[in-house]
Formats: sequence, C-alpha cells, structure tokens
Amino acid sequence: MPDGVPEVAADRLRRLKANDTPAILVVVYGNRAFEDALLELSDLSPQAGFRPVAGGAFIGEHSYSTSENPTAHGRPDAGDLWKAAEFGAEIGEKMTGINSPFDIEPLNVPGNHPYRDGWDPGEPMSPLTEEDNCIKCGKCAVVCPVAAITMIDEVTTEEEPCIMCCACVKNCPTGARVMRARMQELSEWLNKNYSERREPETFL
Ligand SMILES: Cc1cc2nc3c(=O)[nH]c(=O)nc-3n(C[C@H](O)[C@H](O)[C@H](O)COP(=O)(O)O)c2cc1C
Repeated sequence: MPDGVPEVAADRLRRLKANDTPAILVVVYGNRAFEDALLELSDLSPQAGFRPVAGGAFIGEHSYSTSENPTAHGRPDAGDLWKAAEFGAEIGEKMTGINSPFDIEPLNVPGNHPYRDGWDPGEPMSPLTEEDNCIKCGKCAVVCPVAAITMIDEVTTEEEPCIMCCACVKNCPTGARVMRARMQELSEWLNKNYSERREPETFL
C-alpha cells in the first residue's frame, strides 16, 4: 500500500468521467510528508479525463493529533488560507493564457515512480469503544467516511475498511471512542518528530 492517496479516494476519482477538464490537484497532509500523493493524483486524474493545471500540498491537523500530542493543531490557519488564495490567483493568471485544454502543458509534481511502499501497521489500528462511557448516540457511525462503524444496539467496528482517520475519536461527545495503544504511540512520535511547522507548497 503506498502511503499516498487513500485507496477509497483513488477509487472515487477513477469513477469520475471528465472531458479534458482542467483540474487543480490538492493534497492535505498532517505536517509529516505528502510523499507520492500529488504524483498519484497527477497520474490518476488524466485517466479520468482531467488535465491537471496546478498542484498544491497543504497542511491540516494530523488525524492522530490529540490534546496531549497536538500535531499541526489549528492548521489550516489564516496563513495557510492566504497562501491558498494566492495559489488560486496564480492559477487564474495561468488559465488566462490558455485557450484550449489541449494547450495545457504536462504538470510536474514531486514524487517517485514507482511509488514508494507505504507503512503497514501490521496489526489492527481501528479505534475502540469503551462501553462504559458510550451513550450510543451513533455520532461515530455518522462521521466515519468509510462506513466502517455501525450503531444498532451497540457500536461495532469493521477493522478492514477503517482508514484510521480518527474522525470517530475526535467527534465522540463522551470520550468513549479511543485510540489503541499503538496509535497513541504514533501520536506521540508524530508530535515529537514533526512539530516543526511545514508550509504549503504549490506547483504550476
Ligand atoms: C489514510 C490516511 C493517511 C495519512 N497519511 C499521512 C501521511 O502519509 N503523512 C502525513 O503527514 N499525514 C498523513 N495523514 C494525516 C492527514 O493527511 C491529515 O490529518 C488530514 O489530511 C487532515 O485533513 P482531513 O480532515 O481533511 O482529512 C493521513 C491521514 C489518513 C486518514
């Protein structure tokens, strides 16, 4: 599994059908690295009929960020949004010089071919529910982007589809949805090694 575009997102992109439509490629990462994600998008999008005109890598709070280990907490912030607006203006300028999608030059974005192998957790990492604190409100199931959680009489989690985004943990109103010990270790590791602020990068 490459450590780039989550398969669920790549799959959605593959299902789109564009007609030489200009596209802006954007990845958001948690202040560690975006690795081959932008290159993957630039390979996938023409297959779906898009013509990439620009790419950007922006920073968002890390999925494993917690109050004790707040990696990229508060991102994107005002500075990031300013850069995003600037990026938009630069794309606008670039587009004024382009009369037809066929005039769009191939876009160069960083990354490796073949994609570097991603990290494999090796053991289940999906968050757990502490039954005693769970009020069975079902919010975790609603916010899960891959429908890995069901709430009927109790909360059950399918480990396989879980992409470890931790939306369930962050949205649980009673703190009953928790990270496993392994993920807590990673949360600490990220905060220790990747707390130095990274800035958005754009490619036009
Ligand atoms: C499946 C998955 C893989 C991730 N891989 C990385 C990564 O390789 N490097 C990184 O810095 N952050 C990584 N993250 C953290 C996210 O990029 C970041 O927390 C997230 O994009 C925040 O925006 P969102 O809430 O729109 O997803 C990953 C998150 C998920 C869900």
